Amino acid sequence: MLGRVNHIAIAVPDLAAAAASYRDVLGARVSAAQSLPEHGVTVVFVELPNTKVELLEPLGEASPIAAFLEKSPSGGMHHICYEVDDILAARDRLVAGGARVLGDGTPKTGAHGKPVLFLHPKDFFGTLIELEEV
Ligand code: CO
Repeated sequence: MLGRVNHIAIAVPDLAAAAASYRDVLGARVSAAQSLPEHGVTVVFVELPNTKVELLEPLGEASPIAAFLEKSPSGGMHHICYEVDDILAARDRLVAGGARVLGDGTPKTGAHGKPVLFLHPKDFFGTLIELEEV
């Protein structure tokens, strides 16, 4: 069911500093910052040969990563995104297997314009999983 790692997302308290660190210290190619108000984040994409890292900074009052950064003020890995061919088939299989899909189970349009779902971290060893249909 799972395909490639689409991206790994890291929540950061200071996006400009994190982007500079990835660019200047780690020598990676980083995008300009993009604000995604509908997702409550500002994001920088770090382009790697085999995947992407997304650096996420909270945007707005109801950001989904604000609570995460309260618990981990210096930042940390927020989620990993796996690609799937058919997100509804994947959801049905997961729900049948007892996994919890966050929200109402209806895929939303993710940061890349594709349908996404999130799976409860307690069902997958403490890691928030995003599924993206590609
Ligand atoms: Co993501």
